[in-house]
Amino acid sequence: MKTSVTSIFEIDIPIVQGGLAHLAFAGLCAAVSNAGGLGQISAVTIPGGSEALRDEIRAVRALTDRPFAVNFAISTRRDIMDLVETALAEDVRIMSFTAGNPEPFLKRLEGTGVKTLILVAGVRQAQKVEELGGSAVIAVGYDGGGHLGRDDIGTMVLVPRILESVSIPVLASGGIGNGRGLAAALAMGASGVEMGTRFVATAECIAHDNYKQALVAAREIDTRIIERSLGTPGRVLHGPIGDLIIQREAAGDRDEVIRLISGKVNQRGAINGALDEGWVWSGQVAGLIHDVPTVKELIDRMVGEAEDLIRNASAAFTH
Ligand SMILES: Cc1cc2nc3c(=O)[nH]c(=O)nc-3n(C[C@H](O)[C@H](O)[C@H](O)COP(=O)(O)O)c2cc1C
Repeated sequence: MKTSVTSIFEIDIPIVQGGLAHLAFAGLCAAVSNAGGLGQISAVTIPGGSEALRDEIRAVRALTDRPFAVNFAISTRRDIMDLVETALAEDVRIMSFTAGNPEPFLKRLEGTGVKTLILVAGVRQAQKVEELGGSAVIAVGYDGGGHLGRDDIGTMVLVPRILESVSIPVLASGGIGNGRGLAAALAMGASGVEMGTRFVATAECIAHDNYKQALVAAREIDTRIIERSLGTPGRVLHGPIGDLIIQREAAGDRDEVIRLISGKVNQRGAINGALDEGWVWSGQVAGLIHDVPTVKELIDRMVGEAEDLIRNASAAFTH
């Protein structure tokens, strides 16, 4: 396949694995990159700070010689510039940023040749990234798993709005999990897709099998939005702890909400598999997840499906 995203990031298939907090380590990242997509590790949730990030980057390089990226979740609670410096020192060539103002990081990376991907959920944000010299934006719609924008714009409207507002490449994200999603994104004019939830339910992801099987069992109606009261909405799989968070939000119990949304409570579900004791992120795309394939099976299948669909769809235009 060839799109502006495959050219810029020097990959074969325009499928990017989302930065998956607590789940995106070398094994998954390398599997995605080896299958022709762009794998990522998530810098902020690798336990152990800069040294651990350096080791994880080296672990990726031991598993693949293909391009990969390091994902940075920007936080107001922690300065992450040290982690960006570590990635730079390790000669990481692609970095992605989410959940905050990317300006200081894009400024720091100016002139380094590092390619960047910035997650956005609105037109203004995307235009700002273009002004700041970002290489591409990932437009994340309301359907998606994990943290979302505040304006609740679905992928099907957000992606075309961003496409008509910027000239840098746009990847579609939120609700994509199969060849139909990939075909739709390309047909809209996006240069590729980024997927989070779908990659959780793959053999190489370290997520607990209970989490993967819950995604397989879930319908598209089985997600809820938490953290709305904090101004940082995020989509989780429906479950008792998610419900408790929403209830505590309605009661105005901010301290308890902050305690419950911690990474520790997330990991109880995502890593330990205790879905009654911890919450897990999931997009509406869970309704489209029916199995737990290897990353290569998933990517090959998506490309094959998308090719057939686009070929069939274009037949509609022949007379
Ligand atoms: C388990 C999980 C963890 C996530 N953690 C991050 C993260 O650390 N950094 C990031 O950029 N995006 C993160 N995201 C968002 C994804 O990158 C992606 O934008 C989103 O999952 C797209 O929607 P989808 O789940 O429908 O594919 C996460 C998503 C999930 C499901």
